[in-house]
Amino acid sequence: MTSEIIPIGSDHAGFTLKAKIIELLKNHGFVPQDEGCYDESSVHYPQIGKRVASLVAENRVKRGILICGTGIGMSITANRFKGVRGTLCHDESTASMAREHNDSNLLVLGARVLSEDLALKIVQTWLDTPFAGGRHQDRLNMIEEN
Ligand code: RB5
Repeated sequence: MTSEIIPIGSDHAGFTLKAKIIELLKNHGFVPQDEGCYDESSVHYPQIGKRVASLVAENRVKRGILICGTGIGMSITANRFKGVRGTLCHDESTASMAREHNDSNLLVLGARVLSEDLALKIVQTWLDTPFAGGRHQDRLNMIEEN
């Protein structure tokens, strides 16, 4: 069991899926921190994306999760933050590669392009897969160089 805090945010398109992921996180001993949105009314994804990405960028949490309709807007938003490695994953294979090769610290999902079942499998894989390090770490260091 773990007591790791995981901030999670979505826009209206990801609201329903967010609730399911929060449930999964709780069932696995994580402490989800719901950063909104809090109902299905239309909101602007950058406002919520920035909230979660800044928590990761400031090292206040180890990792976070963002959801929008396609996952694209949240990805663009998240990856503006130095140190954030936001990865838009569309299946279990990309989720495990995002952890193994890219040390993903922010999982991004597209609620309108994934079934709920697949989205939950992606989250589970992303949570469970460790970073492989080695040559992959060298490449991540290069991303941070100016
Ligand atoms: C909202 O309609 C939609 O634009 C948003 O959820 C996301 O897909 C943006 O990339």
